[in-house]
Amino acid sequence: MDTPSPIVPAVAGNAALAARDLKHVWHPCTQMHDHDIALESRVPMLPIVRGEGAWLVDADGRRYLDGISSWWTNLFGHANPRIAAALADQARRLEHVIFAGFTHQPAIELAEELVRVTPPGLSRVFYADNGSSAIEVALKMSFHYWLNQGHGQKTRFIALTGSYHGETLGALAVSDVALYRKTYAPLLLTPILAPSPDAYEGEPGESPAAVAARRLGELRVLLERHAHETCAVIVEPLVQCAGGMRMYHPDYLAGLRRLCDEFAVHFIADEIAVGFGRTGTMFACEQADVAPDFMCLSKGLTGGTLALSAVLTTEDVYAAFYAEYNAGKAFLHSHSYTGNPLACRVALETLAIFRDEPVLERNRALAAHLGARLGPLRDHPHVADVRQTGMIAAVELVADKRSREPWPAAERRGLRVYLHGLEHGALLRPLGNVVYFMPPYVVDTGEIDHLVDVATAGIEAAIA
Ligand SMILES: Cc1ncc(COP(=O)(O)O)c(C=O)c1O
Repeated sequence: MDTPSPIVPAVAGNAALAARDLKHVWHPCTQMHDHDIALESRVPMLPIVRGEGAWLVDADGRRYLDGISSWWTNLFGHANPRIAAALADQARRLEHVIFAGFTHQPAIELAEELVRVTPPGLSRVFYADNGSSAIEVALKMSFHYWLNQGHGQKTRFIALTGSYHGETLGALAVSDVALYRKTYAPLLLTPILAPSPDAYEGEPGESPAAVAARRLGELRVLLERHAHETCAVIVEPLVQCAGGMRMYHPDYLAGLRRLCDEFAVHFIADEIAVGFGRTGTMFACEQADVAPDFMCLSKGLTGGTLALSAVLTTEDVYAAFYAEYNAGKAFLHSHSYTGNPLACRVALETLAIFRDEPVLERNRALAAHLGARLGPLRDHPHVADVRQTGMIAAVELVADKRSREPWPAAERRGLRVYLHGLEHGALLRPLGNVVYFMPPYVVDTGEIDHLVDVATAGIEAAIA
């Protein structure tokens, strides 16, 4: 007689699963008290049982359109059949193998593909298993490169104000979002902060290109003072995502490349959130026609299916580590799941979808529709800015439109938009006062309309 498998879950509704979850599970980026069952205005803990395209379905059968691609990871829909089939096939062949001294076809082919699709000059691929780890790798590799070249005095990094590169200690050190950084500051390296070219923070009437030019001037001054002790400048190309979807002109990236060459510091492009078509081109750096010294990739790399990241770098960097063993120049960084075959295989399938389907072309039409639908919000008395770069769009809510005074964070206006969204079938998760849209690429225009309609009504509910 068959005994029931313990891993096949009993059919249970939202309330039962949420109660079990809250007994033992500690969730990320969450004040767990918000979910306290005793609170009248509690935030629901939603058990999701399946995904269908851009939709998530909870245990009570309610559906939510994933307007944020589940933390910006999902590109081609949840439970995508092509990706699921590749994953199942790989699971039957090889699930994992130590990646030191051993290799496998998915990792080899993925490295070949990544080198093919990323900007020219990036020819070496180092795998890690999440975005923050990729940043750790890039920071360590840049430092170690200079050390191997006899420049051990280079120990610092330049980061932009408002940047976010992850939450492990190294990645957090080069991040500048107070919410995540402030508490842990005593544990962190101190970066040199360069003013962000964020167009929203420009002078009244100043064009995004003029802001970029002014900020490059300020970066030059910092480099004149600090290049001798600086390993690299790290940026999120075009969009500073967790910092509030702040956007800037591609000229900044072109100027940054020139400055990094002039002052002999590396350029680290963190394309973890913006890579793989998000900004309208396969990689954001393409819009400035630049190749960085390090490019960090994760999130969309596997279409949002498994944790994987990759750091691409140049032959020059690789050569600085390549020496006879006792020279002691090898790069020292390892994770048990480095180059996991399952993750590499789904990443390959994700890249195959880019090859087989007109993804970027379709995204351009979807982005135009999203932009057109959001346009009228510019006139809203509590909206200071509506901005967009490709398949990322953001609406900046303010208490006062003329002074751009934000709502006090403690009022949690964005949370009201989130709760309204859940009640009306949309997953929107504002960053403070910034309501943003970053949907999977498989949405259609009707689904974009749904997101915008729910967000617009949610904004009204939030300011009431
Ligand atoms: C630009 C950027 N870099 C790094 C990270 C960190 O990635 P992970 O959450 O996989 O550690 C994120 C995550 O949101 C990100 O947006």
